[in-house]
Amino acid sequence: MLDLADLVWARDPNEGYIQGKLSELGAHEYEIIPTEKGYQKRSCNIDDIFPSCENKSDHDDNCELMFLNEATLLDNIKNRYYKDKIYTYVANILIAVNPYKEIKDLYSKATIKSYNGKSIGEMPPHVYAIADKAIRDMRVLKVSQSIIVSGESGAGKTESTKYLLRYLCDSVEAAGQIEQKILDSNPILEAFGNAKTIRNNNSSRFGKFIEVHYDTKYQVVGGFISHYLLEKSRICTQSLEERNYHIFYLLCAGAPQSLRDKFHIGKPDDYRYLAGCTQYFASSITDKQIQNTQKSKDHIQKGSLKDPILDDFIDFKELDQALSRIGLNESMRTEIYGIVAAVLHLGNIAFEENPEDTRGGCRIMQEAEISLEIASKLIGCDSFELRQALTSRVMQSKGGGVKGTIIMVPLKIQEAKNARDALAKALYSRLFDFVVSLINQSIPFQKSSYYIGVLDIAGFEYFPQNSLEQFCINYCNEKLQKFFNDNILANEQDLYKREGLNVPEIKFTDNQDIIELIESKANGIFTLLDEESKLPKPSFVHFTSEVHAAWNGHFRISLPRASRLKIHRSLRDDEGFLIRHFAGAVCYSTNQFIEKNNDALHASLECLIQESGNSMMKKLFSSNNNSVTKGKLSFISVGSKFKTQLQELMDKLEKNGTNFIRCIKPNSRMTDHEFEGGLALNQLICSGTASVLELMSFGFPSRVPFAELYNMYKSYLPADLIKLAPRTFCEAMLHSLNLNSKDFKFGITKVFFRPGTYVQFDRIMKSDPENLKVIVQNVKKWLVRSRWKKSVHCAICVIKIKNRMIYKNKCVVKAQKIIRGWLARRQHRPRYKGIIKVNALRKNLKEMETIVNQLKNERDTMLKQLKDIDQQIDTAIKKIKSNEKIKSQEIDGYYFMLNGKANQQMNTIKIKLQEQKNAEEQERLRQIQLKMEAERKAKEEEERRIREEEENRRKKAEMELRRKQEEAERLRLEEEDRRAALLLQAQLEKEAQEDSKYRQQLEQERRDHELALRLAQESNGQIDESPTMSRNGTPDMALSNHNRLIRSEAIRAQQQIIGKQKYDLSKWKYSELRDAINTSCDIELLEACRHEFHRRLKVYHAWKAKNRKRTTMDENERAPRSVMENAGKIPLRTQQKSSSDPNSVSIHRYFRIPFMRPNGNTNDNTNRGWWYAHFDGSYVARQMELHAEKPPILLIAGVDDMQMCELSLEETGLTRKRGAEILEHEFNREWERHGGKPYKVQNGKS
Ligand SMILES: Nc1ncnc2c1ncn2[C@@H]1O[C@H](COP(=O)(O)OP(=O)(O)OP(=O)(O)O)[C@@H](O)[C@H]1O
Ligand SMILES: [Mg+2]
Repeated sequence: MLDLADLVWARDPNEGYIQGKLSELGAHEYEIIPTEKGYQKRSCNIDDIFPSCENKSDHDDNCELMFLNEATLLDNIKNRYYKDKIYTYVANILIAVNPYKEIKDLYSKATIKSYNGKSIGEMPPHVYAIADKAIRDMRVLKVSQSIIVSGESGAGKTESTKYLLRYLCDSVEAAGQIEQKILDSNPILEAFGNAKTIRNNNSSRFGKFIEVHYDTKYQVVGGFISHYLLEKSRICTQSLEERNYHIFYLLCAGAPQSLRDKFHIGKPDDYRYLAGCTQYFASSITDKQIQNTQKSKDHIQKGSLKDPILDDFIDFKELDQALSRIGLNESMRTEIYGIVAAVLHLGNIAFEENPEDTRGGCRIMQEAEISLEIASKLIGCDSFELRQALTSRVMQSKGGGVKGTIIMVPLKIQEAKNARDALAKALYSRLFDFVVSLINQSIPFQKSSYYIGVLDIAGFEYFPQNSLEQFCINYCNEKLQKFFNDNILANEQDLYKREGLNVPEIKFTDNQDIIELIESKANGIFTLLDEESKLPKPSFVHFTSEVHAAWNGHFRISLPRASRLKIHRSLRDDEGFLIRHFAGAVCYSTNQFIEKNNDALHASLECLIQESGNSMMKKLFSSNNNSVTKGKLSFISVGSKFKTQLQELMDKLEKNGTNFIRCIKPNSRMTDHEFEGGLALNQLICSGTASVLELMSFGFPSRVPFAELYNMYKSYLPADLIKLAPRTFCEAMLHSLNLNSKDFKFGITKVFFRPGTYVQFDRIMKSDPENLKVIVQNVKKWLVRSRWKKSVHCAICVIKIKNRMIYKNKCVVKAQKIIRGWLARRQHRPRYKGIIKVNALRKNLKEMETIVNQLKNERDTMLKQLKDIDQQIDTAIKKIKSNEKIKSQEIDGYYFMLNGKANQQMNTIKIKLQEQKNAEEQERLRQIQLKMEAERKAKEEEERRIREEEENRRKKAEMELRRKQEEAERLRLEEEDRRAALLLQAQLEKEAQEDSKYRQQLEQERRDHELALRLAQESNGQIDESPTMSRNGTPDMALSNHNRLIRSEAIRAQQQIIGKQKYDLSKWKYSELRDAINTSCDIELLEACRHEFHRRLKVYHAWKAKNRKRTTMDENERAPRSVMENAGKIPLRTQQKSSSDPNSVSIHRYFRIPFMRPNGNTNDNTNRGWWYAHFDGSYVARQMELHAEKPPILLIAGVDDMQMCELSLEETGLTRKRGAEILEHEFNREWERHGGKPYKVQNGKS
């Protein structure tokens, strides 16, 4: 019944994602059957499942993938990695996977040439393409550029940087002198600043920003290197599998015998400072060239270390040549090597307790005397003075004797060791600064117009033990991540908004809160550290407590016991802190923070160095600004110096155009052809590339202002097209090239392209002249067509306006006619009514005449009198007729006057007649009088009726007025309702924001967990799954059981509803729910099953919609859009209320609404159809779709649930749609006409 053969990607801790088929829709998780053998069936959270396509993907730009999500991103990168295609794009960001092997011709000179002047996307992705883009952007936009190379240790940043520099220096022609010097900086910097670590044989232990400067003609004129944070602790100690800086081994293995003799250099295991791994990097050939006396015991036993790019024997020669090429003569080079040797010998100076000293001081051991001798010689000081400086400290007395007297305080063994190590670190780090300054001096520039800077700085670091170095580097990574977020995600979305492209907003985690935590001036960790250092007796315990006190309750910082790793939980609250970085939680132990933050030497050593006779030493310490003599308060701490340097760097980056390269380490074994999906996925998510991909699923990575696009291509076009305005030109070109209209958009100032489209456009524009001719032809056609359309449109508009004017005129005339008629009638009605009334008197006269004719006497006189009256009537009518403005009273006056006269006459006649006629005649006269009376009454009745009509009209006018007032009142109430709804919506939005913040925190938890897992795997440590303790000692439930917690909002909302319900259906299978619906007789259970069943359908459809294919927009529409959209508008409370309403059971309702298939052409009538639904209770039982020229689609619940509307009746809003509801027989008639079987009422429900 349930057909869920969807191919999906499901999250897997090791592989990142594995492919499988969806087999069950559970309440909170879906069941997946992996397609590859060897993997178990599993349940996954819905947020960890993404759709997959059948074919193996292999795309240059990840934005071209069918589905854009982190799983397909990982899959594409992995597939390509195994085909030796290590580069891909996410929009304009390059992802580089470290191949750990040489790929043929990938970086050859010919390859460099092939990338020259090519837009991104024209050639396969490459670091060279990014370098070329930087050069082109610099030329076109006239802005300096930065290329930020990031990634974790061993991901390939330094290698990528080298290739970038090679391209920047080499792309035009063979490298000149300046370019060669810039390239020479690499072996020098690597010899002094790189070392073998467990994660990378050639790990850069410092950060660098290399600037290549150009003049106005874009020729390389110089370079400049800034370096950051050399790891000093490595100079004195390394873990067993790691080595000190390469230079020490280069000297031991590769320096000529004479030089080694001069500096008494032996084999690595002779030196305490090389106590870690003592093997050399050497090939089988060079291993033979190194004498056994130069090799450590370990090396002889285990053989050499192997790395394709490292060879201690050869590298010394290369270093020496590079140093000489940057202008150092032999003596200077020797002096430099001398300082390196001095560090080695210094390390061998050992101390023991001095039994002769009563104050617990120490002395140098007998067997270390020789090292003291050599070291002092190399430093250029007297051995006695060095001994003194290492074993005692000068102090100025404050009380007691004479104030200011200098006294010597003997040092204890540990203090002396610390002093020795401090001196060694100072020597080496000064030497490193000096070497960098020498390189900078060798590539000076006077006039630089622009530069391209490449930033290679250590990625995010986490070890079992983390100290100030990791703290600084992780802080730096937070700043760079923020820069990336602002630059790529925030600015991009801003631009879409400004240009009105209507692209949905993408959420990303803002890490500003961590940056505040570290650098805020008031109580940031750096500030607290500096303040602690200024105290008379600084202590790391106090410092740590201060940090916790200042940031108590901040989500980003916790006590060490909140860590998932057991080793961190053993730290006391005041021995460290845990910071939840964007890439995962790191626990820092603070016990060395204060010492490491202050790299100043103590006074005796300072004096010793100041007085050294060695010229090199003088140069190294010439700019000493960390002198203790300046007092504690004025020292510049390592932390604040780094903070300042970083700010300067960020300022530069802000001003420049930026390009990003994200390096990915494919495995932790540093080997080729091995891809650990989980490891790579973590890096992709942490580097923000997954978020960019999400943004790009809607976004437009390439954009060009109209004018620029016009300028770029106008030379390819004939004269008549060049005349076009830039915007018209762009519209004409793009519309006539047969590009998919979804692949570009017109903003207000620019045209935007989907990934890959710009290249397609560029390719077409630059194609051969024949093809171009066709295009020009098309453009002309388009122009003609669009102008024709415009003119037709204008003509239609004019005609419409004309018709409207005619119509309006007619209306005006009609209105005039009616009003005039009414006015005339009002004016003349009393007149003609008066005339009728007056005329009516003639009838009386006639009757009187008849009577008079019966008179024998005075007949003529009487007749004459009657005639008189008749004439008076004529006169009165004439007066009424001739006087238009006659008043009705006047007319009534005439009437009454004439009536009176007639009456009087009648009386007279009556009297006369009485005299001659008998009583019968009198009776007849009375009859006449009665009749006249009746007429009078009728007249009065008529007048009363007219008055009444008048009264009714007045009342109606009043009613109309009242209705208008009520209407206004109703509008006011509606406005109030609308405002209340807005308030409610704002509140809901606020809740949604809080929820999104909660989800971000959960995502952070997952990263922390993954990081801890990796670290535990690397260091054989253990993970503690028990809930971590919060500050008050109660288990912190938010930090535990992370898998369960990462849930979509929909699921959590539904869980709350489920929690309140009688039946717990969360463990029920999807098919079991369906069976219960079909078979259960328990009405309540049945209803609960129906709700749960449709809820799961809803979550599933929502997931599908969220993860839809990039190319299709609205496939699988299960109900007309108006219905689906209504579900989104209705508040959750109403939805819940309605879906749990028992009254809704067993009511059948039928609906019919128009339905237009969204994939159809809107102008095509064949797509218009009808959508029918029969709701049995809350949910749809039968559904039917009828389109004129398509077979009808009839669907039945229980069989076709996946294609049917999953919404409850209330959610569809159908009941509120006017005219949507139809009668049962209307539905059934259509249903049966299209072959549907009669509906069986289930389970006795009707
Ligand atoms: N493009 C490449 N082709 C071949 N090998 C590479 C490439 N990139 C890196 N590698 C190999 O990976 C090793 C580590 O690379 P790299 O030193 O550049 O890492 P990184 O990111 O700079 O690490 P760290 O942060 O420790 O300095 C190199 O020594 C080299 O062997
Ligand atoms: Mg490096």
